[in-house]
Amino acid sequence: MSPPLLIVENLTVSYPSAQTPALSDLTLNLQRGERLGLIGESGSGKSTLARAVAGLLPRGTSVAGRIEWPALNRPAEPGRDIGFVFQDAGASLDPVMRVGAQIAEVVRADRNLSWHEANKSALDLLAAVSLPDPATLARSYPHQLSGGQRQRVAIAAALAGEPALLLADEATSALDTIVQAEIAALLDRLVRERNMALIFITHDIALASNLVSRIAVLQDGRLVEEGVTHDVITRPSRPYTRELLAAHWELPAP
Ligand SMILES: Nc1ncnc2c1ncn2[C@@H]1O[C@H](COP(=O)(O)OP(=O)(O)OP(=O)(O)O)[C@@H](O)[C@H]1O
Ligand SMILES: [Mg+2]
Repeated sequence: MSPPLLIVENLTVSYPSAQTPALSDLTLNLQRGERLGLIGESGSGKSTLARAVAGLLPRGTSVAGRIEWPALNRPAEPGRDIGFVFQDAGASLDPVMRVGAQIAEVVRADRNLSWHEANKSALDLLAAVSLPDPATLARSYPHQLSGGQRQRVAIAAALAGEPALLLADEATSALDTIVQAEIAALLDRLVRERNMALIFITHDIALASNLVSRIAVLQDGRLVEEGVTHDVITRPSRPYTRELLAAHWELPAP
C-alpha cells in the first residue's frame, strides 16, 4: 500500500494565553485522493486543525505532536501542495484587480511560469471551475460577479499550485442553499478529476455526507468519532454525534 499523504499524530495545539488547548492529542491519517469531512460544533477546533495542517497557525502558538507528509517525502508547501478555500473566500479577492490577473499571479507564484503561460493557465482554471466564457470573466473585477462566481474564482486560485490536498473550511457556508450544492458538486468533481485529497470542514453534515468517504467528529479539541461516512451517519457511536445529526435533520415531532 502506498504511504499516506498526511499523518497527524498526537497533535496538541495551544494558542497563546488560552486556558485550554484548542486541539488535544489528535491523531488522523489521510490517503492520497481521500475525502474527509471534519464536523463538530463551533469552537471544537476544526479550523485550528486546518491551520495546523497548513502551517498557518499564528506565531506564539505551541504545537506538540507530529504532522508529516509521507507521500511527498518532504514538508508540504502551503499554496503549492495544499490549496485553501475559506468561508467567503470570494470576498477576499482583491477588489481593484481583474480576476484573471489575480489567478495568473497565484499561478506564477506557485509554479514559476512566465506571465504568458500563467495567463493561459488562469483561463484553464476558470474553465475548470465551470465559469462560462472564461476570457470575458478574466477581465472582470470581483464586484461584477455573483457570490457563487466569486467562490468559484477562489477555488480556481486554490487549484493554481496543483495541490495534493484541498482544504475547504466552511467553503460553502456563506452561500445560499442552491449555490452551496453547486459548489459542493464542483469540489466533488475537481477532487476526483485531479486526484486531490479533500478535507471538507462544515457544520452541514448532510452536505458533507454527499462529498466525503470518511467523517471525523471533533468535540472540545478532541477527535471523538471517526469512520466511514455511511456508518457515522447511520450508526453514530457517540451521543455528541447523534446530537449533531439530530440538530441537522430535525425530526418531526411525534
Ligand atoms: N487565534 C486564536 N487565538 C486564541 N484562541 C483561538 C484562536 N483561534 C481559535 N481560538 C480558540 O480555539 C478554539 C477552537 O477554535 P476553532 O476556530 O478551531 O474552532 P472551529 O471548530 O473552527 O469553530 P467554527 O465552527 O466556529 O469555525 C476555540 O476555543 C477558539 O476560541
Ligand atoms: Mg472554523
